Amino acid sequence: MKTVKIVILMILLVVAGCSSGSDDTGPQVGGPSDDIDPGGSDDDNPDNDDDDVPVVGPFVYDATEDLKNVASFPIGNIVSASKLASTSTANTTFKQILNTEYNSITAENDMKMANMFTGPDTYDFSDGDAIVAYAKENGHRVHGHALIWHQSIPNWLNNFTGTDEEFEAQVEGYVKATVAHFAEAEDDDGNPIVASWDVVNEYFDGSSVRSSLFTQRIGNDFHEKAFQWAREADPDVKLFYNDYNIAGQVDKRNAIISMVNNFITNSIPIDGIGMQMHLNHDWPSSDLPTSIQAISDTGLLVHISELDVKVNYGDDITELTEERAAAQEFQYQRAGYYYSTIVPPAQQFGLTLWGFRDQDSWLYDGGSDWPLLYDNDFNTKISHRGLVAGLNEENPE
Ligand code: G3I
Repeated sequence: MKTVKIVILMILLVVAGCSSGSDDTGPQVGGPSDDIDPGGSDDDNPDNDDDDVPVVGPFVYDATEDLKNVASFPIGNIVSASKLASTSTANTTFKQILNTEYNSITAENDMKMANMFTGPDTYDFSDGDAIVAYAKENGHRVHGHALIWHQSIPNWLNNFTGTDEEFEAQVEGYVKATVAHFAEAEDDDGNPIVASWDVVNEYFDGSSVRSSLFTQRIGNDFHEKAFQWAREADPDVKLFYNDYNIAGQVDKRNAIISMVNNFITNSIPIDGIGMQMHLNHDWPSSDLPTSIQAISDTGLLVHISELDVKVNYGDDITELTEERAAAQEFQYQRAGYYYSTIVPPAQQFGLTLWGFRDQDSWLYDGGSDWPLLYDNDFNTKISHRGLVAGLNEENPE
């Protein structure tokens, strides 16, 4: 028994040594664990070319199925023009995984208003164009994100000294010019590359209309106008409303559903709802399927648009633990399972992850959360296994 413990300890030390060869700046995911998958291998690790070293860090596994191949709808993840242009080891690996596991991409930041609306009647679409070109070359769909969001306003527009009418004309011009510009990109069969836009992001604050520059200068109906402007610019592109906590916050969800029903009653164009799905390992519980059912019942397209699962919401762990990794795997499985089984196929717009490596996540916070599917060496975590199981419609409950 003592010998077995020594051997396990030696394996852990070897694995820890291999991890330190990475070009990553952040700490590694997780800590030593007895829960090593005996069937795994480290072949996927680009920084480790020693074939004799048996498997693998804690909470990772050797994936045999790629996400896009197990789903019957598009599977997306986020990109930036700079990462797509980069040939660093890490970004080369990122692109390999992007092209193997995904067929839909969303710009994490590059296609937001703050990046593209550079001055009055002046636009810089170059980063978005680079993303679209990459998508065309590699067979991805692009989901446009996001035309109007209170957290992405260029400084000059924040400080705009013209009248409210002039302000509205600027925003209208931006929405129309942007949608029209990206409608021009087509694949070789003449199909649009940019299939869709989040037209308005996070209009609600809880169940109330969020006060923002747009409500103050255009009015509480700016969101309706935005959808109409977008539709005028492109009759075909799918138009989404996108928000967080649609799963988990019932009053907010009900406000969104009632907004959508008003749109439908008043012939304001809308095609779909983006449920961001920034989840915790233990939240939401029963409201996850309930919310997917409720959004599905609107009859619109449903996009899980920004999926990630925090494991350290309460800031009570300093490394990923076995219990949290298992809870995260379970929550990813639930998200994949309920989306796959509840949303009718004709309404399944797709499921988009919000990042690759844990250290790339907006939630990483210097190494205090591990919300994604890949560790900092791009190894597939068991959270990936959970999502694969959910997409394969294996009931987690
Ligand atoms: O690029 C600059 C860099 O030059 C500068 O040195 C650095 C200093 O802070 O900032 C960098 O920009 C940051 C950018 O991310 C790129 O890393 C911005 O400050 C930072 O605000 C921005 O955060 C993004 C955030 O949206 C705000 O736009 C996150 O990456 C992005 O993941 C996050 O995504 C949002 C969705 O769009 C909407 N739903 C919520 C989701 C999470 O907040």
